[in-house]
Amino acid sequence: MSVKDEINKLKKEIERHNFLYHSENNPEISDAEYDALYQRLKSLESDQVVSEDSPTKTVGAKPSKGFEKHTHLKPMLSLSNVFNDEEFNKFEERILKRIQVDKVIYAVELKFDGIGISLTYEEGILTKAVTRGDGEIGEVVTENIKTISKIPHKITFNAPKIIELRGEIFFNLDDFDSINQSLQKSGGKAFINPRNAAAGTLRNLDIDIVRQRPLNIFLYALGGCSDDFNITSHQDFIAFLEKNNLPNNELVTFGDATSASNAVKKILDSRDKLNYEIDGAVVKVNDINLQEKLGFVSKAPRWAVAWKFPASEKFSKVNDILFSVGRTGIVTPYATIEPVLISGANISNVTLHNLDELKRLDIKVNDTVLVKRAGDVIPQITKVNFDARDGSENPVKVPEFCPSCGNKLKEEGPFLRCDAGMKCPAQLFGYFEHFVSRKAMNIDGLGYKINTHLINLGYVKKVADLFKLKQHESELKNLEGFGEKSIDNLFASIDDARKPKLETFINALGIPEVGETTASSLARHFKEFEKLRSATFEDLMQLDSIGNVVAKNIIEFFINDPVGIDELLDQIEIENFVASADSHLDGVRIVITGSFSEFSRDELKDIIKSKGGVPSSSVSSNTNYLLYGEKAGSKYKKAVELGVELVDETKIKDFLKI
Ligand code: IVH
Repeated sequence: MSVKDEINKLKKEIERHNFLYHSENNPEISDAEYDALYQRLKSLESDQVVSEDSPTKTVGAKPSKGFEKHTHLKPMLSLSNVFNDEEFNKFEERILKRIQVDKVIYAVELKFDGIGISLTYEEGILTKAVTRGDGEIGEVVTENIKTISKIPHKITFNAPKIIELRGEIFFNLDDFDSINQSLQKSGGKAFINPRNAAAGTLRNLDIDIVRQRPLNIFLYALGGCSDDFNITSHQDFIAFLEKNNLPNNELVTFGDATSASNAVKKILDSRDKLNYEIDGAVVKVNDINLQEKLGFVSKAPRWAVAWKFPASEKFSKVNDILFSVGRTGIVTPYATIEPVLISGANISNVTLHNLDELKRLDIKVNDTVLVKRAGDVIPQITKVNFDARDGSENPVKVPEFCPSCGNKLKEEGPFLRCDAGMKCPAQLFGYFEHFVSRKAMNIDGLGYKINTHLINLGYVKKVADLFKLKQHESELKNLEGFGEKSIDNLFASIDDARKPKLETFINALGIPEVGETTASSLARHFKEFEKLRSATFEDLMQLDSIGNVVAKNIIEFFINDPVGIDELLDQIEIENFVASADSHLDGVRIVITGSFSEFSRDELKDIIKSKGGVPSSSVSSNTNYLLYGEKAGSKYKKAVELGVELVDETKIKDFLKI
């Protein structure tokens, strides 16, 4: 391939990834892979006249041309989630309490895993179909929607002056398969899943392509409407849809909370029999008066909830097994797999943890594997399908040398480790990323790309170099893609970070297994950094929250000094720990869960810390209190099981004395 051809190919590819990342929110490749493509393009362009349309000349996705924007009469909202009966019961309790009734009738529907759409009918005529967009403003895709023959262009039964009908666009599974087959036949790339295919088709600018693909639709909710539209229940709304031949789904049931919960279970059982994907059920209060009384909280209605189904498992194929080096030098195997959509996330990389896990699974490159993801937990490979082996599988090549710096690796139990410390670019990168992160030194204006530059250009060889970046000011301002202003902001943020609080600094050090909570306890106990640095094992073991392993990690960290602490201390001035006048929460361990109308969780954490409390991330028998807000989930459940004292939002101010 000529250089020009390769440049053109890369331009197209990068533009596609820009679009997937910025407009679709659905990246197919990791940042590192994107960066490699970008760097390759830049290096090829360095000997050429660069055309103005090159992605190296534009930042982010080009605004997608072609579709007009439209502001929805009423915003398109999202739904809060429940995952089980207990959480659903709490949803119902909140409703009963708010509207002071003892029973409510719900509608239970399927939750379609497609793309939201809003159809506008004015005086009975379909005038607009608009995508969800950011919820307030979407894109007008009327022509594409009109390819769906079952959508009536005119409605006559009780048609108001104006009405927005909300629904979901999707593909039937068999249609999705045929689309992919014909794409592959013609040398195109198959869609990863039906949802992506629907998104790509709905927003396709080529109407001929859209016509070839049988999009489908179900309508399920009312958006904005004029005063002449009068219905009193969701059931009425469905009748309105039916009388007008507007496409709705027939699997709707009505009943009290118990029958709603049973209906959800039935839907879950029949999920695999459907010819389209669903990711749960939606439970809605039937009575529209009650819906109005209940209203909304942030961006979701109080009168409806998405009952999400447990993560499904899906088979995929292992493309490769690679090894990545973390900030502490541990070299972790991971599989790159054919992307699969599992509970809303596109999975293409799965960690394999350590060498023992490789043996336990007996996994090989090219194997078919079962991938699982439960809630927000990281994806796992649960088993290899040995029956699918056909001899094309290759054993894992466990590296002898560090994939980042070439240093000879050591085996430590089930782990592989590179002990080159900050001389290893991958460790320096990981460490630097942690050091500057929001909960550590909180430097604005750094990210994957600029960090890579800083390290590759040799401006950052150890973390202390962060504070010496000013000497490279002119080079940084000339870096492609980083404006003068953003570099000035970066310097301002670095200067702001020169006086870190002791607990922030300890957290930023990234001592293995010393996170925010332990850093806070250490700061409270030792008050000055030098006291912590010179603490003995016994001194450390005085703290309740510190066990053998953490104490050993701290001691080793200061002996080995992988960071170059003295050089760092030359650049900054650590604020000693000062107990605040109000320390009524001294040493009290508090977990925060759910969302609060008056505070963000970070605000609550700061208040707790300022009063001597220790905000912790997980509930254990050591937890003293749980502060919980709306949508409190598993932490609440665990706290109840362990008998931890509970504080709800109405009591928070008293509890914190604010
Ligand atoms: S009702 C005000 N019903 O799920 C409530 N939404 O996670 C409006 N969805 O944005 C939504 N099936 O795109 C509703 N039967 C259903 C649904 C449904 C799928 C989507 C919809 C919504 C998202 C929320």
